[in-house]
Amino acid sequence: MPTFPSPQNSPLLARFKRPANGTSPTTPQRLRPWPVVWAALVVTASSLASPWATAQTPVRVIDSMAERTRACTACHGDQGRAGPDGYYPRLAGKPAGYLHNQLRNFAQGRRHYELMARLVDPLSDAYLGEMAQYFADLKLPYPSPTANNTIAPERLAKGQQLVTQGDAARGLPACTQCHGVRLTGVQPNVPGLLGLPLDYLNAQLGAWQTGQRRAHAPDCMAEVVKRIPAPDLIAVSSWLARQPLPADTHPAERVPPGPALPEDLRCGSAPELSTPLAAPSALPPQHAAKPAQKGQP
Ligand code: HEC
Ligand code: HEC
Repeated sequence: MPTFPSPQNSPLLARFKRPANGTSPTTPQRLRPWPVVWAALVVTASSLASPWATAQTPVRVIDSMAERTRACTACHGDQGRAGPDGYYPRLAGKPAGYLHNQLRNFAQGRRHYELMARLVDPLSDAYLGEMAQYFADLKLPYPSPTANNTIAPERLAKGQQLVTQGDAARGLPACTQCHGVRLTGVQPNVPGLLGLPLDYLNAQLGAWQTGQRRAHAPDCMAEVVKRIPAPDLIAVSSWLARQPLPADTHPAERVPPGPALPEDLRCGSAPELSTPLAAPSALPPQHAAKPAQKGQP
């Protein structure tokens, strides 16, 4: 049974936690030097909270969200485009409701990453929402897929089948039924599954298996993962991490048409997935590209 890296046992995090003068012999160039990260965190942790600075506090005027979120982009990469190594996830362009829910999850203990939780803990829910919207509105191109783990072609085919068709025998809907036919997510609460590194996908699916990651109850993803044997999960993540991004990478505007989700797969963080569609005829044609928003690639 494969083990998945999780924030608690990730060798990368172990290295990341080591002080700057630690003795890690490996790949220092892949990690930001500690002093840089900490300087960014210290300088900007206070600016994150600047909207609540008291009148007496003489604060440097920092008026852009880009400045205020420098503490975040120290880990999440420039403009939230992801860290260099598959461990610090991309934030840019993910649906705002999804990002907001994740910030709440870290703040409320349904996801765990202490260094980050400490930063978001003191912030109001409204401000978490503003940060989520800021990153959601950033439109950046995605990198090409890089997964090159060894896996037999028939396993990849199995992964593709589970993603696009599910497995009726196990009561498993296709991933596309919730994550959108293009797998780019669905507004406002469902993330896309493409453009994510294999390590990140494995870590997240593994974290749901072990209960390290939870979503608002009822937690449909916990249920999905429970219905997939571990080797098939690897097949799924390996297939996903090899797919090129479609031309239109925006999250779909609405839930794809399809059979109603079973009652035991309701998603607390995305209740709209279970809302019956009013009139199928009112749906836009499948794959309808949304008109480009705000001058994107
Ligand atoms: C010290 C590094 C670090 C800092 C600083 C940091 N994060 Fe994170 N963040 C992470 C890691 C690592 C994860 C993934 C943890 C996991 O695998 O569950 C993450 C996950 C997230 C997620 C969930 C992403 C997803 O797709 O599910 C969001 C949203 C997020 N961070 C936002 C922020 C914001 C906003 C800030 C600034 C207030 C911030 N982070 C600061 C390291 C950091
Ligand atoms: C019943 C609806 C549903 C189905 C089916 C479903 N998902 Fe999800 N998935 C969600 C929701 C909702 C979230 C957001 C959870 C949250 O708010 O934390 C999510 C989140 C995820 C994430 C986290 C993404 C990130 O950036 O951290 C991954 C990975 C994922 N799903 C993979 C899959 C895979 C693979 C399948 C198919 C085998 C699948 N999901 C099927 C509803 C679904």
